[in-house]
Amino acid sequence: MSSRLDVLSRQMCGMQLSPTAGEEEQRPAPAGGRGTLTVVDNRTGKKYTLEISDGGTINAQALKQIKAGGDGVGLRTYDPGYTNTTAVISRISFIDGDKGILRYRGYPIEELAARSNMMEVAYLVLYGSLPTQSQLSVFHEAVMRHTALPTEVIDVIHAMPHDSHPMGVLMTGICALSAMHPEANPALAGQGVYKTREMQDKQIVRLLGKIPTIAAMAYHKSTGRKAAPPNQRLDYTENFLYMLDGGYNPQYRPNPRLARALDIMFLLHAEHEMNCSTAAVRHLASSGVDVYTAVAGAVGALYGPLHGGANEAVLRMLARIGSVENIPAFIAGVKNKKEKLFGFGHRVYRNFDPRAKIIKDVAENEVFPLVGVDPLIEIAKALQDAALSDEYFVSRKLYPNVDFYSGLVYRALGFPPQFFTVLFAIPRIVGYCAHWRESLTDPDTKIIRPQQDYKGVWLRHYSDVVVRTAEGADTLSKLPPSNAYNRRVAGENWM
Ligand SMILES: CC(C)(COP(=O)(O)OP(=O)(O)OC[C@H]1O[C@@H](n2cnc3c(N)ncnc32)[C@H](O)[C@@H]1OP(=O)(O)O)[C@@H](O)C(=O)NCCC(=O)NCCS
Repeated sequence: MSSRLDVLSRQMCGMQLSPTAGEEEQRPAPAGGRGTLTVVDNRTGKKYTLEISDGGTINAQALKQIKAGGDGVGLRTYDPGYTNTTAVISRISFIDGDKGILRYRGYPIEELAARSNMMEVAYLVLYGSLPTQSQLSVFHEAVMRHTALPTEVIDVIHAMPHDSHPMGVLMTGICALSAMHPEANPALAGQGVYKTREMQDKQIVRLLGKIPTIAAMAYHKSTGRKAAPPNQRLDYTENFLYMLDGGYNPQYRPNPRLARALDIMFLLHAEHEMNCSTAAVRHLASSGVDVYTAVAGAVGALYGPLHGGANEAVLRMLARIGSVENIPAFIAGVKNKKEKLFGFGHRVYRNFDPRAKIIKDVAENEVFPLVGVDPLIEIAKALQDAALSDEYFVSRKLYPNVDFYSGLVYRALGFPPQFFTVLFAIPRIVGYCAHWRESLTDPDTKIIRPQQDYKGVWLRHYSDVVVRTAEGADTLSKLPPSNAYNRRVAGENWM
């Protein structure tokens, strides 16, 4: 039977929740599919035939054979920001940015949001198929069994300032987990330590279980209250809300509709193929570092306002705009490149981000009726309408992304803006772990080491410091000492 969200999804977004006649069952051949490419080097007149893979790629190594004297090095590609480079073959999720499609392991995100839940989706993303009832119970039990934190990790978090950004606390907590598990650290236990599925899965359930607990502690650093100890009998998302709000009352239970809304938010954020932070986890893991350090690095990448930090930036932007009347001036500022419209635009979606539609629906139908309409929603809606009817945004195919509405939902749920990215990181650990696991068994995995085009000074010779004259304009900036420093050095026998 269709759930309420399912029905709403159909009505509000015109989404298809099951394949209809004519919907493709097979992936259309990427870039036209397998073949060959003939390249003529106009510098030498030489002709080369390059293989095009069934993934619509040419092997960058094949360009090495194209040489025209000089330093003898073959041709390379230049792709800052990796905007058109396939760095990995993956089977985890699929995005068609032009059509606004996101699928986890082949399942449309709309179907998963309407019918599934975070734990089931985590299993799907990690292991490739939806779990049976018993597989799900075993997985859920294993994750929840790992929700408690070692005392040392708790102490590290307690030692941080009360006003630390929660993303800083989260990263620190994950690094502390790395220190707690030398037996799972290739630097200490040997490169083969992740060879067995058991060792991989042990780290995965630890990360999935403990990260919400670190997040709950990060939340409470500034509230003056304490996170409730995890309750492993609860559902994953319910336990997270319980840790935030349960206090000392083990009987406390979060509101089921709000828990479901947050669960949907979580599953929508669980995975998103080769974005900045997922690429970071693969990048770090390729060096053979332990998975905790790799995940901490990825969480660091997520923190940035151009990536996961955008939801926090959206809220701050809406608050700064302040009222609907100020929107035209703000839009003019964006077009003059003085402002950025956070929550708009995406490297791959050149259409509505499908997650943004679902989140708008969750906000309007699940969250706001219970906790009240956020006044910023009016500004958000008017801003969206203004941007979507403006030539600047239309011609650049800039549409709302996942972060445009998620901040409003999180704010309505009572979270402070600095916590929004943590709410993104908690579920995305699933995607990071899935990619880490995939990379471990991928025969093409190599240490990631891109090339550069060196344009610096070619060669010069060392001269003694006493005869040297200043070269170039670049030098250390002025870093004035503090008055306290001046006071110290003004004393006698200072050291
Ligand atoms: C996500 C993002 C980093 C993608 O960047 P990208 O793929 O490198 O896209 P580009 O920066 O090349 O953008 C192409 C053009 O659109 C403009 N543009 C892109 N996003 C914009 C935005 N949010 N506001 C204003 N202009 C934007 C760029 O200025 C550029 O214009 P130009 O052609 O006149 O130079 C970018 O859209 C952005 O910064 N968005 C806001 C942050 C955000 O919401 N991030 C969350 C992503 S889920």
